[in-house]
Amino acid sequence: MPARGCFRAFPLTRPQLLEGRELIDIQGVSKSFPFKGSVVQALQPVDLTIPAGSFVSFVGPSGCGKSTLLNMIAGLTQPTAGTISQRGRLVNGVNTGVGYMTQQDSLLPWRTAAQNVGLPLTIRGEKPAVIDARVRHMLERVGLSDFADHFPSQLSGGMRKRTALAQVLSYDPDTILMDEPFGALDAQLKLVLQAQLLQLWENSNKTIVFVTHDLAEAILLSDIVVVFSGRPGAIKAVKTIGMARPRNAFEGQFTPEFKQTYLELWDLLAPEITRTAGMEH
Ligand SMILES: Nc1ncnc2c1ncn2[C@@H]1O[C@H](COP(=O)(O)OP(=O)(O)O)[C@@H](O)[C@H]1O
Ligand SMILES: [Mg+2]
Repeated sequence: MPARGCFRAFPLTRPQLLEGRELIDIQGVSKSFPFKGSVVQALQPVDLTIPAGSFVSFVGPSGCGKSTLLNMIAGLTQPTAGTISQRGRLVNGVNTGVGYMTQQDSLLPWRTAAQNVGLPLTIRGEKPAVIDARVRHMLERVGLSDFADHFPSQLSGGMRKRTALAQVLSYDPDTILMDEPFGALDAQLKLVLQAQLLQLWENSNKTIVFVTHDLAEAILLSDIVVVFSGRPGAIKAVKTIGMARPRNAFEGQFTPEFKQTYLELWDLLAPEITRTAGMEH
């Protein structure tokens, strides 16, 4: 009898490839915050498995707990109930297995782009020559070699995002958490940065957990899109996106598969956005 997995007549599809490759396991995780003497529930219990090497997006209305869930995966805050583990190890303190691009960019204004990119390596105590070489390589990969000596205030919004990405990539984490990285950028720039991100990711074996409020962006980039309901958030749907890889995020928008997936998920997401908007007025 042939060994399991050998002699397949057809190459595996992307969803088949990811099946069973569990990296992050989220079990019954909920979160409440104390607020003015009472308690605000940010997230209802969620269960989710994130496969190694996948690109997973969280999409949902503002305030549904997307950033809170990323913070818990990063180990910056603990769940009120439930557990998160990465590679079978419980996350119960800062999770050193992830790099985190937070919603507000955290570049230090008094350090140049190169110094910001190298900061995690400096903190880790690497030798200056190692840091220099790594920083140069990372700035080149995000197309910012000519801006190494610029301070954050001398960079455009898109350049700051690319610097933050280079900083996260500099210490080579196997998982990258990105919280609405392209949210504030114009539509054209977003397309360019999405394409660059896909290329970087497709040439790595990293896992990306990506938060966005843009459903089209989520579908075009991801293997799995997780749709959250409005506050207090809960998972409403987990959709596997079968669109071929490598993927062109721009051309992908014009395929029938994109259109069908968009309509299907929009039906789930639209009432949540309407409900949340109603609560806020
Ligand atoms: N540190 C905190 N203290 C109190 N409430 C918080 C805190 N962080 C988040 N929240 C509340 O939790 C909910 C979810 O927030 P968040 O995760 O930032 O949502 P999202 O990222 O989906 O927009 C919101 O109602 C928010 O006000
Ligand atoms: Mg957020």
